[in-house]
Amino acid sequence: MVIEQFKASANMLDEDPFDSTGLHPDPTNLLAQEHIDLGILKRLTGQSIISADQFDKELVLEICKFAALLEATEIASSRPLTGKIVITAFFEASTRTRLSFESAVLRLDGKIISIPTGQSTGVAKGESLSDIGEMFNAYGDLVVVRHTDTHSIEEIMQNLRLPLINAGNGSGEHPTQALADWFAILKWKPGLIKEHIKPRDQIHLGILGTPGSMRAVNSFLRMSILFQSGIRKISIVSEMADPLGPELADRLEKSGIAFEITNDIHAVQSDLDVIYVNSIAFLGDHYESLNSRFKLNKESDLKPDAVVLHPLARLDELDPLLDETHHNLYFTQAHGAVFVRQALFIAMLNRFDRLPKKAFPFINH
Ligand code: CP
Repeated sequence: MVIEQFKASANMLDEDPFDSTGLHPDPTNLLAQEHIDLGILKRLTGQSIISADQFDKELVLEICKFAALLEATEIASSRPLTGKIVITAFFEASTRTRLSFESAVLRLDGKIISIPTGQSTGVAKGESLSDIGEMFNAYGDLVVVRHTDTHSIEEIMQNLRLPLINAGNGSGEHPTQALADWFAILKWKPGLIKEHIKPRDQIHLGILGTPGSMRAVNSFLRMSILFQSGIRKISIVSEMADPLGPELADRLEKSGIAFEITNDIHAVQSDLDVIYVNSIAFLGDHYESLNSRFKLNKESDLKPDAVVLHPLARLDELDPLLDETHHNLYFTQAHGAVFVRQALFIAMLNRFDRLPKKAFPFINH
């Protein structure tokens, strides 16, 4: 079923969320090339997702293709998550991540138990995260966790026997955000899937942010390295003297991708094809806006077909007047996260056999 039918079946014709401003590349752009490889997706069954480092390129591609098929297909009526309970345990603030995970579950007929704030748990009485992890085992089938502390995930996992998704741990990582980021990029430029890409089709990727202290940017950079055949150069624009830290710098060096670190946005912005922006960092115990000198707005000297990504929330680094332009890929990035997260739930909980046979012929029913 194509997306128009999906919208019609969901009664979305009058109030259509897909019609927000900005670019909306067709998810079927990603489906033209090859079949989805179920064997690769099944590598996720029963696994936890902690870091972008767990993914290789073929797994990212299969997740993105599967997410594209879910975006283009009506599957709610086949109820693939019936009988499954997902625990969303958010010990730190979130708009998009918690709601998109929960939307993904509910649209697949799963059920949710949610912790919207850590203070609503035994943490308020001094309970340890490892004890809370032990409790999760009895209450659900999969846990999605966000926390201010970088070490929180390993503490919860000490006693946890369910699969877990790291939905952001302090200044650590946010791996499913990176999947949503690359899902948006590949829908926009599906040619980046290829192994051999002509130099003129490669992208110059700009990162206005500090990967070493921003979890979304950290995971995005780690995942971007997998797409090195499609990247001509990475320019990191930061006010920090060392925005990467030794481990990320070493990884980027070894990738063979040409890269530069600069604090002069004007020196690079007119050459960038993809600009990833973020300013809010969680530094130990508080949020801080970094890189306040760098701002994108309608006057910025961007290539006509350059696209902007932002994990959001934004401050004044990204002018809302850009929302109505074709530089805006960030709303598609946020909306598409629901389908990426649906793909992860179906794969991690191995509910492929519940999908409608006609739309998913690659599955043995
Ligand atoms: N992208 C992201 O993590 O947004 P939230 O903080 O709103 O979840």
